[in-house]
Amino acid sequence: MSGLLDRRFVVVTGKGGVGRSTAAVTLALAAGKAGKRTCVVELYGNRRIAQWFGLGDRSYKACSIAPNVDTMSLTAMDAMDDFGQRKLKLDALVRMVLNSRVTHAFVDAIPGLHDLVQLGKLENMLLEPLPGDAHYDLVIVDAPATGHGLTLLAAPQAMSELTKIGPFHELASIIARLLDDPKKSAVVLVTLPEELPVNEGIELALGLGDNQKLLHSVIMNQARPPSLPPVPAWDHIHALLSTAPDPDLRELLRVAEPFWRRQLSQEQALHRLKTLAELLNRQIPIAQLPKVEHGELSPDDLHILAEQLLPQVTT
Ligand SMILES: Nc1ncnc2c1ncn2[C@@H]1O[C@H](COP(=O)(O)OP(=O)(O)OP(=O)(O)O)[C@@H](O)[C@H]1O
Ligand SMILES: [Mg+2]
Repeated sequence: MSGLLDRRFVVVTGKGGVGRSTAAVTLALAAGKAGKRTCVVELYGNRRIAQWFGLGDRSYKACSIAPNVDTMSLTAMDAMDDFGQRKLKLDALVRMVLNSRVTHAFVDAIPGLHDLVQLGKLENMLLEPLPGDAHYDLVIVDAPATGHGLTLLAAPQAMSELTKIGPFHELASIIARLLDDPKKSAVVLVTLPEELPVNEGIELALGLGDNQKLLHSVIMNQARPPSLPPVPAWDHIHALLSTAPDPDLRELLRVAEPFWRRQLSQEQALHRLKTLAELLNRQIPIAQLPKVEHGELSPDDLHILAEQLLPQVTT
């Protein structure tokens, strides 16, 4: 996965619940440890990462969660307000009107506009920070679940088709330029070590269309280190133990069996994931993020995961 942290803009995507937020924040902490000034951003007002770090009520401001690492929870209306101020040079009163319910309905009605203005805010943070703004080397986006993850990246194209002139067209072109350059932007796909999530992940990757070129790597979340011998050694052990006259040995086999099935399923998932590289005809590195075996993840767990991810994303 070398080079990932040298990108400016990384979109972490995957199906719902696979661990996108975990992977996004872990990647951000790893980047921070590597000396990159990083902001990990949740869209649509999501606050999973903010909650992990005990941040209070939602605010549009970036908050520090570790040395070099900030987090931010963005909404389309926040981004719209920012756009009104920066690009349209609207004064506070007009922006207040824009923030009304009528405008919300209007913004909702235009496909892709929510995505576009949020992407626009991120592009500004990276490439056009105002005096007094933080300067980031890297912005990592915790993309919404699949359907949305795809529309997010397709937003500039959708807007270019809707409007050929004006500020939104200009915004779409600016973002398209950022997304068009795999040296600046990357997509990281998160999946789990099981058949269905891996198949869904591959489907998502293939559905990226023009943005497929941005797919940089995969994070297999909740991976477990192999603890039992691989096939065929296991087949041999299984044959021996299942016919053993001693009931204690057969009981041992019964206890070990589910662990072995899980390990086999992970090996098969990894094998299947590797076919993605063949389908896309280029290397797609796979990093493994271990499963933390106790309860809810804490900031300490996330830092430990980041230490484990760091060598995988830098070599
Ligand atoms: N490596 C891991 N080890 C242990 N638990 C994990 C790990 N990764 C994720 N989890 C747990 O799985 C749950 C889902 O993770 P996360 O919130 O990152 O998923 P998501 O894909 O962002 O979900 P959503 O679709 O709701 O946004 C969380 O409760 C988290 O604590
Ligand atoms: Mg999430």
